[in-house]
Amino acid sequence: DTSSKLVFYINGKKIEDSNIDPEWTLLHYLRTKLRLCGTKLGCGEGGCGACTVMVSKFDRSTNTEIHFPVNACLAPVCSMHGLAVTTVEGIGSTKQKLHPVQERIAKAHGSQCGFCTPGMVMSMYTLLRQYPKPSMKELEEAFQGNLCRCTGYRPIIEGFKTFTEEWEVIHATSQIRTNGSSNGVCGMGDKCCKLQNGNGNVIPDKEPSDRLFEANHFTPRHPSQEPIFPPELKLS
Ligand code: FES
Ligand code: FES
Repeated sequence: DTSSKLVFYINGKKIEDSNIDPEWTLLHYLRTKLRLCGTKLGCGEGGCGACTVMVSKFDRSTNTEIHFPVNACLAPVCSMHGLAVTTVEGIGSTKQKLHPVQERIAKAHGSQCGFCTPGMVMSMYTLLRQYPKPSMKELEEAFQGNLCRCTGYRPIIEGFKTFTEEWEVIHATSQIRTNGSSNGVCGMGDKCCKLQNGNGNVIPDKEPSDRLFEANHFTPRHPSQEPIFPPELKLS
């Protein structure tokens, strides 16, 4: 009897389960039945974001994959039927290779006790699957549901800012400052138009000692290397 069978994907693996309690949340299923304990139970009521996972579905009307962040503590596991779930274990690990999102939050000192970190990582990861080059506004909005008791947020946001389109401008200005006119990038020095903000003021540079991290040491992200959407879900 397939009508009572829950079928969905977790980290690319197909799950078929006929023995489901309809009261179980996705978080309970992940942590208790699958022993995927990277997704954390914080408040259990949708307020902290520690349980954030990415849920993906295929939209037949537009022929596109849609990704969105979900609080696994609120979502009934049965609501995942026909969908694909990605948890923090599905994107990278210290045993194999960290995903650039995981690497950047670590190198930017955005993880202290670490309890909020998987949720932070999955909110950022989902945003990048939605918008490969998000704006700062989109970044800030994506983190409205994630709380951290330790870091004061600055290192988390600074680290993740390196994925935004604004960062490319900042990065370009520091390249100009580093290279100056010696390699012919620009002979205008601080008057270079790329070093001005919208008000005509020079974008201030930070002393190396003020920087939380050296972004040059980050592994670049290649969208083409993300796990593929389960092809079967495009057919059924
Ligand atoms: Fe806090 Fe889910 S555990 S939002
Ligand atoms: Fe401790 Fe965020 S690092 S709650």
